[in-house]
Amino acid sequence: MLYILKERASQLQELADDPDCDEKTLYNTYAHFKILNRLVSHWRSVYVFYIRPLLRKEKKTWTLLDIGCGGGDITLALAEWAKKDNLALQITAIDTDIRAINFVNNLSNPHQIKFQHASTKDLIAQNKSFDLVISNHLIHHLNSSELKEILTEAESLAQKMVIFNDIERSDFLYFSFALLALFIKPFFPNSFIWVDGLRSIKRGYSQQELRAIASNKWQVKRLFLFRILLIYSQ
Ligand SMILES: C[S@@+](CC[C@H](N)C(=O)[O-])C[C@H]1O[C@@H](n2cnc3c(N)ncnc32)[C@H](O)[C@@H]1O
Repeated sequence: MLYILKERASQLQELADDPDCDEKTLYNTYAHFKILNRLVSHWRSVYVFYIRPLLRKEKKTWTLLDIGCGGGDITLALAEWAKKDNLALQITAIDTDIRAINFVNNLSNPHQIKFQHASTKDLIAQNKSFDLVISNHLIHHLNSSELKEILTEAESLAQKMVIFNDIERSDFLYFSFALLALFIKPFFPNSFIWVDGLRSIKRGYSQQELRAIASNKWQVKRLFLFRILLIYSQ
C-alpha cells in the first residue's frame, strides 16, 4: 500500500538522462550501475528461473536483445552465465544514448556482444527479431503511452519471450534507499546514482498500474521485494 508515493512522479527527470550532464560523472554512474544491479536487480534469479530453462529446450544459438543496456553489466553477466552453462547465446544490446554505447565500447567484451546505438523502432525497421528480449530499469523512464508502445515493439521483436525487470514504487524502498545513501554515498564519489536512484523509485510503476497499461498477453509478477517483472511469452 502506498501512502506517500501514491502518484508516479512521471515529470521527474533523472540527472543521467540530461544530454548536457557531466560526462565523467555519467561514466562513473554507468560503472556504479554494476554494483547496484548486483544488489537489487536479481538477474541471476531471472536467468536461472526463466532464461536458462528456455535456452535448454533446444540446442541452437539463441539470440537475445537487451533494450537500454546502459553500462552493459547485465548483458555481460548474461553472456558469462550462458557460456558457463555451455549454452550458445548471441547478444545484441541497444541504447538510444550514444554516451552509453561509447562507455560499453571501452569495456572488455569477451563474448562478442553487439552493442548498438539504436532504438527498438530502428530494429523493427530492419526486420530484426530475437528469441528473447529483455530490459532492466527501462520502463520507469517511460510514460504510460511510451510504455505501451515499447511493449508492442518488444512483442514484435521477440520470437519466444520478453522479460522487463524494474523497480516497484514503494514508500519503504524510498526511505530505506535514502537512509542507505547517507552511509555509503562516500564510496560512490562523483556519481548520479543516489539522486537518480531516489528519482527512479518515485518514477517506478506499481503492479496495479502495470496491469492497467499492459495487455492481458503480459504477466505482471513480483520478483522479490520491490522488483517487478513484466513477462510476455509466445
Ligand atoms: C537507467 S538506465 C538502465 C541501464 C541498464 N539497463 C541498467 O539497468 O543498468 C536506462 C537506459 O535506457 C536507455 N533508454 C531509454 N529509453 C530507451 C529506448 N526507448 N530504447 C533504448 N534505450 C532506451 C537510456 O538511454 C538509459 O541508458
